[in-house]
Amino acid sequence: MKILTVVGARPQFIKAAAVSRELRKAHAEVLVHTGQHYDFLMSEVFFRELDVPAPDYNLEVGSASHAIQSAQMMIRIEEVVTKEKPDRMLVYGDTNSTLAGALVGSKLQIPVAHVEAGLRSFNKSMPEEINRILTDHVCDLLFTPTDTASRNLAREGITEGVYQVGDVMYDALLHNIVIAEKRSSILDRLKLQPRDYVLATIHRAANTDGRVRLEAIMNAIARVGIAAILLLHPRTRDRLKEFGLEGMMHSSGNVRIMDPVGYFDMLVLEKNARVILTDSGGVQKEAYMFKVVCITVREETEWVETVEAGWNILAGNSLDLIPELIQKTRTEPQSHPDFYGDGTAAKRIAQTLELRRDGISK
Ligand code: UD1
Ligand code: UDP
Repeated sequence: MKILTVVGARPQFIKAAAVSRELRKAHAEVLVHTGQHYDFLMSEVFFRELDVPAPDYNLEVGSASHAIQSAQMMIRIEEVVTKEKPDRMLVYGDTNSTLAGALVGSKLQIPVAHVEAGLRSFNKSMPEEINRILTDHVCDLLFTPTDTASRNLAREGITEGVYQVGDVMYDALLHNIVIAEKRSSILDRLKLQPRDYVLATIHRAANTDGRVRLEAIMNAIARVGIAAILLLHPRTRDRLKEFGLEGMMHSSGNVRIMDPVGYFDMLVLEKNARVILTDSGGVQKEAYMFKVVCITVREETEWVETVEAGWNILAGNSLDLIPELIQKTRTEPQSHPDFYGDGTAAKRIAQTLELRRDGISK
């Protein structure tokens, strides 16, 4: 079967690497990179580290408003799909690249499978929530990571074609942490002691697009009291500059502010952190997988099970309280259920695609 995969943003390269490895054992894959992320440290580094074959197409869409970016993606994806005539398409997660791929495929009557289906924050002011809902409703195969995700789909009337396979990010983590621990020297380079620093990432529109909130988050990070590493997403870097807050982009005191790192360094930083402070979906989950307490700088999360289990704390609007919350995380929860499967999600996806070949001749 010929499968055309659409990716475009950092977390999708990591997820696709895990799935492609399994997929390519039995199928031909055409990999399309929309170009949504394009900095070396947001894109190419992952292809190099994770041994993902170079994309067959890079559509070089780049950054723009939602409408322009999504429209350009759709125009260019349609050209490739029309030329390649795949049997099915595969999209990941909840970015504009995800929705663009899903809309183009479904309108050309190519069946589209969605990996990481069923996630909901129930907050429609998030662009990701719109992308997820629409994508789930036009795809014929929905690969959910968790019970919650499968239930969310059922609540919206989607029960056909739903396969709960576990989380492909868990597959990626299990496979790569072994390599990362051999190759990464990040703790030495940054002179960090295991379990003695806070690792922070911030990039959500709701946290970066308003000056007051972004400044408050940066101030909270400056007050965590122990060493802190903030990996600056380009969106956050650009907003700090735009708001005239460049001064906050420089390391000072116990806070080190730096460019994003590759996946191997990231896994090692996460595994050894005392606390992770983030608004990233993937990083919240990885914190859980490494049994590191996470403070999520949002009012809600799609990964509700991590909160219910006590490993993830929603900081919501209490930004001032973040340093205090970090102090309180000294005791870790007792239980740690396997919410994210057994590390074979990619294999299950590849097998299901094979089993459901029939779906493509409809
Ligand atoms: C996107 C996804 C988000 C995901 C995140 C992963 C959407 C709507 N959002 O957010 O769900 O969590 O990726 O990281 O799809 N920029 C660069 N270099 C790059 C990429 C971006 O400088 O390589 C800057 C540009 O100023 C751009 C801004 O970052 O305008 C935002 O990039 P964009 O891809 O629109 O959204 P993200 O915030 O990265
Ligand atoms: N990540 C990385 N380097 C970084 C920050 C994040 O490799 O400097 C990885 C992280 O380990 C996770 C993924 O990128 O696997 C999360 O991506 P991001 O936070 O950009 O997006 P989200 O998951 O919120 O959509």
